[in-house]
Amino acid sequence: MFTVEKSGQGFGASVRGIDLRDELSAETVAALREAWLAHHVLAFPEQDLSDDDLERFTQYFGGFGDDPFIAPIAGRQHVIAISRRADEKAPLFAENWHSDWSFQAQPPAGTCLYGKVIPPVGGDTLFANQHAAFEALPTDKQAFYQSLTAIHSAAGAYAPEGTYGETDQATDRSMTIRPSAEARATHTHPLVRAHPETGRLGFFSTLGYIVGIEGMAQEEAIPLLRELAQWQGREAFQYRHRWEAGTLVMWDNRSVLHCATGGYEGHDRLLHRTTIAAFKAA
Ligand code: SIN
Repeated sequence: MFTVEKSGQGFGASVRGIDLRDELSAETVAALREAWLAHHVLAFPEQDLSDDDLERFTQYFGGFGDDPFIAPIAGRQHVIAISRRADEKAPLFAENWHSDWSFQAQPPAGTCLYGKVIPPVGGDTLFANQHAAFEALPTDKQAFYQSLTAIHSAAGAYAPEGTYGETDQATDRSMTIRPSAEARATHTHPLVRAHPETGRLGFFSTLGYIVGIEGMAQEEAIPLLRELAQWQGREAFQYRHRWEAGTLVMWDNRSVLHCATGGYEGHDRLLHRTTIAAFKAA
């Protein structure tokens, strides 16, 4: 059986003694799921995975989620490339805190990201534990945030006028992003949610994909969300993942935020990503 070693950073853990090229038994998958729910981010170092392996692993945890606005890699429906060339000048992708696709009606449970080409410096992924962010607040603030419903949308990122919209299409970005007017759709979710599997309360998503608060004027909602976002991403709640080629990381979008970081100019970076669909109770 595999071993789980805590990162020493408050959450996050490494899993060793398992070869993800092998088919996993139901017992092993259940034990990995338990570890994932406990640690929120699991890293599997020293793997040697094909896209078939990555897809098979993803399906053990609930099937594929729907990936809008980013084209899959050639020959695959469910694998996208997070890529950046050494000489690329386009702004970094995903440098803001977010929970993947939180604007969907059924946002994905998790994300798998497999390091293929990793720069010698920089390019860490940061995670922020949203249970810890919520639990560290005084009870009156917790109650206030629990009373709010967040409005989510992908417009700021993927609408034609968004960060990755028409202006971005003119850059030298290596990722194939497909902006669309459909990104302007909105869905609501409680700002503070009980985790669908553990029941633990935490903030779900943050300013960016959250574009407003139901029943609150924008002049009030945006400053409130901005101040909350500062709190949600505080260093005290963070785990910094330093990549190595051959590491697979899976994170729980329901309990953590994440963001990309730079610092690797002049080096290529390539990771393959799959999305784990929303949890359905048996
Ligand atoms: C992502 O948000 O999926 C990208 C994270 C990264 O590039 O580190």
